[in-house]
Amino acid sequence: MRMTPETLEAGWKAARAWRDQLEVSGKRLVFTNGCFDVLHVGHVRYLQEARALGDALCVAINTDASVRALKGPTRPVNTAEDRAEVLLALEAVDRVIFFDEERCTRAIQAVAPHVYAKGGDYTPETLNAEEKAALDAVGAEIRMLQLVAGKSTTATLQRMAAPADASRKLRLGVLGSGRGSTLEGLLDSIATGRLPDAEVVVVVSDCEEARILELGRRRGIPSHHIDPGPHGNRFAIASQEVACRILQAAEVDLVILAGFMRRIKAPLLKAFPDRILNIHPSLLPQFPGKDAWKQALGAGVAHTGATVHVVNAEIDAGEIVQQSSVAVLPGDTPESLHARIQGAERILYPQAISAYWKRVGG
Ligand code: GAR
Repeated sequence: MRMTPETLEAGWKAARAWRDQLEVSGKRLVFTNGCFDVLHVGHVRYLQEARALGDALCVAINTDASVRALKGPTRPVNTAEDRAEVLLALEAVDRVIFFDEERCTRAIQAVAPHVYAKGGDYTPETLNAEEKAALDAVGAEIRMLQLVAGKSTTATLQRMAAPADASRKLRLGVLGSGRGSTLEGLLDSIATGRLPDAEVVVVVSDCEEARILELGRRRGIPSHHIDPGPHGNRFAIASQEVACRILQAAEVDLVILAGFMRRIKAPLLKAFPDRILNIHPSLLPQFPGKDAWKQALGAGVAHTGATVHVVNAEIDAGEIVQQSSVAVLPGDTPESLHARIQGAERILYPQAISAYWKRVGG
């Protein structure tokens, strides 16, 4: 197909006629745009989410000249026709149109979608002013979708261009609310080679006074307090988004919960799918929730222990990675039992992180 201004505009016109038909049958057209040069799983998930915002999805892609102007002379890797063919093979994508400028303002004006989806760190306020004005003028609802950490065209191309970097270490981001003994254990394991080829690159806490932050700073690790928000024990969605940005900026591979006492929700779970681990002081599924060692004493069990598990939307219920058993001794107090469990945790956590990363990483 020759991409002249006329053929591009003919594509927009046809998309507009289709949009009008959808509207007559009470349906909503979602519109998004991008280069979609080397398709990766981040794109696929993004497009599925965008499609779910309405009843049909129109993707406007930059022409080859437009990609070159935006990304430099080595791009696009694939021609506009090829990119369109690949996109159209996805279940989520109903139609592809092209635009030649840097911005797709004119295509938005021509198609007048009901919903506009955009990925990344944008907010409706930080969208390009010209595109935002066009969207407001056609009455489009603007929806921001979070991108998946580590899944980007740039990262994909870098991996293809460079031989695997053998010196790259596993990058851990640690989230904790308390004394930081778990963090201390991890740092010792790294220093003594029990958790080899790993580094803690960032520490995050919801408690400004938590010792974990002081410990992180003393060890020269960037350590951030995030205000958890106004709702008691909850970790507000906006605060979780801040945590995502900090962890993504630090290029974290695995998020490690170290006595983090708030529930992790969609922004973090989506940005780090199957990449968040927690250690819990019991043999899950026994004694989930708070003060698991007190629950074990109260239940009169002979053995309890510690579990490393993948974090999902349920409390202490994700896939179990490894467990370690600890005896409950006669005369144990909550404190003595918790201390014995924490001793086991120090051995278990680095072991489980290493094993898990070998299985899912890289
Ligand atoms: C850990 O020992 C772990 O057993 C428990 O909090 C402690 C944190 O200590 N975690 C949970 O109960 C999670 N549900 P720390 O603040 O000294 O690292």
